[in-house]
This record gives sequence, C-alpha cells and structure tokens, in this order.
Amino acid sequence: MAEPTVLVLGATGNTGSKVLRMVRAEGTRALAATRRPEAAAAAGVSEAVRFDWHDPAGHAAALEGVERIYLVSPLGVAEPRPVIEPFLNTAVAQGVRRVVLLSSSAVADAPTGLGALHALVKETVPQWAVLRPSWFMQNFTGDHAVAHAIRGDGEIVTATGDGKVAFVDATDIAAVATRALLDERPHNTDHVITGPEALGYAEAARIVAEVSGRPTRHVAVEPGELRERLTAMGIPSEFAAVLAGLDEDIRHGAEDRTTDTVQRVTGRAPRSFRAFAEAHRAAFAPAPAA
Ligand SMILES: NC(=O)c1ccc[n+]([C@@H]2O[C@H](COP(=O)([O-])OP(=O)(O)OC[C@H]3O[C@@H](n4cnc5c(N)ncnc54)[C@H](OP(=O)(O)O)[C@@H]3O)[C@@H](O)[C@H]2O)c1
Repeated sequence: MAEPTVLVLGATGNTGSKVLRMVRAEGTRALAATRRPEAAAAAGVSEAVRFDWHDPAGHAAALEGVERIYLVSPLGVAEPRPVIEPFLNTAVAQGVRRVVLLSSSAVADAPTGLGALHALVKETVPQWAVLRPSWFMQNFTGDHAVAHAIRGDGEIVTATGDGKVAFVDATDIAAVATRALLDERPHNTDHVITGPEALGYAEAARIVAEVSGRPTRHVAVEPGELRERLTAMGIPSEFAAVLAGLDEDIRHGAEDRTTDTVQRVTGRAPRSFRAFAEAHRAAFAPAPAA
C-alpha cells in the first residue's frame, strides 16, 4: 500500500510543529497547514499549505491527496462544531480515513463546546484517536500567561490552590500523536496523556526558581479574583470565567493523576517537569527591554 499523506494542522504551534517533524522523520509525507505558508517556507518549513479554519473555500485544496489528519481545532472558538463538521465531511469525501484530534483532559464528552468534537470525529471518520493531554509544560516557556509571569515579576497567579497537575511536555503529546497517525492498526481510542508526576503550581514555581536562579513563586487567589485579573488583562469575561473554572477543577483534584499512556504508546517514559525546565532554562530569562 502507498504511504499515506498526513495533513498537520497547527503545524507552527506547540504540538503540531513536533508532529510534523516526527511524522517526516519516519519517512511519511506530511503537509504543514498554516495561515501563512510563505512565512513558514521562509522559516524553512517545506510543503506548507494554506489553511485557515475561517476560510472554508480553501479547505478542499489543502486536503488534496491527504489520507490522515492531525487536527488542532480553532483556538478561542467556544462552539467549534459548526466550523469542523463541514471540514471533516469534505475531508472524508476526498479520501481521508484517519483523524487524530487534539483535545484536552479538562474537556469531557459533551453535546456542545469542545467536548462535542470527540463524538463528531468518532462518527465521521473510520479511524480515529482523541488525545486528551493534561496541561502543557510549554505554558511555562512560550506565549502563555504563566510564561509571561515568570519572565516578568516571577509571580504565577492561579486559582488552583494546592491542586496538582500532571504537566506534560508537548513533545510527548506529539510522540503519542505520531503513533496514532502512523501505526498500521488505528488506535480508535481516547488517550489521556500526562507527565510522570503531578505537581502543584507552588512546586512547579520552586523548580523554575531553582533552575533559572530567579525568584519565582505561586500566588494563590480565589476564582473570582482570578476572573477579575484576567478581565483586566483584556480577556473577554466569558472566557475569563471558563479559565477560572478550569483552575477550580484543578483545585478540586481533576488533574491530580498520572497515566502510562506515553510509555505504553511510544515505548519511552514522559519527560519530568524538572528535566523540561533544565532543557528550557533560557526561556525563563526576563524579556529584553524594548
Ligand atoms: N496549553 C495547554 O495547557 C493545553 C492543555 C490541553 C489541551 N490543550 C489544547 O491544545 C490546543 C492547542 O493549544 P496551543 O495553545 O498549544 O496552541 P498551538 O497549537 O500553539 O496553536 C497555534 C497554532 O494554531 C494555528 N492557528 C491559529 N488560528 C488558526 C486558524 N484560524 N486557522 C488555522 N490554524 C490556526 C496556528 O497556525 P498559523 O499561525 O501558522 O496559521 C498555530 O500553528 C488547544 O485546542 C487547547 O485546548 C492545551
């Protein structure tokens, strides 16, 4: 059988960029979906195709010759099903057989919202996997509020209290995704993906402080105060309430568990938070003054 071609959505993002690299490293053709293929090409990404969730007219062209998809849903869209359903129907009509959906451990199966995508993928595509990772370690290093706080005043403000999170490296998520995309036998299952240990934000802050040599601490606030702080930062109030609610779930223990998914699916152990922090030490340095 001919090798499948994989379309990687979010190919310039946290997990997609790593999925792209790993799939290609196995000798399989992978197209990098991005809204700005010229910028991706200039940055050295080959076979970049134009893809914008909000421009459905371009979807059929991006799907040409594609058999498998790594699907990162549109960011910040509370009700993504009306955007994703027509895309999946077009994909299946054009020959797509397998979809690996990036969801979240914080998202349960539901009739609406992100949780509605789980059933949609299972019903629409013959071969599938739903990835349900815990919170990304990359939130401490990239463009996330936690990372900005670390590079700024060193105060990570959450409403998680003493609740623990089994933070996971996006590279480990991508490794699971790669197996779900390329294994001959489709996984047809949900994968709850965690790092090797659950840590409170205070413990994570302590590790960042030890590794970076810069004062870093967790400031625990009540959900209402977090909501107000997020709104003051320009986050729409509805989304601020969702984010505060997720912190409350963590406070109540929703993310205080580890799974063996990374080891079982990829054959190697997930990276610890300390090892991740040590490998990304430079990302904790204060941003240079503009
Ligand atoms: N952060 C966490 O702790 C966490 C935990 C569990 C699950 N998740 C889930 O992970 C997913 C990704 O989150 P992330 O923060 O890591 O983002 P990310 O993958 O880094 O997202 C950015 C990517 O999205 C693409 N993108 C943005 N708008 C697009 C559009 N309109 N059309 C097509 N592509 C678009 C960007 O591509 P271009 O700019 O190149 O077009 C870029 O590649 C989310 O669904 C989130 O729920 C996150």
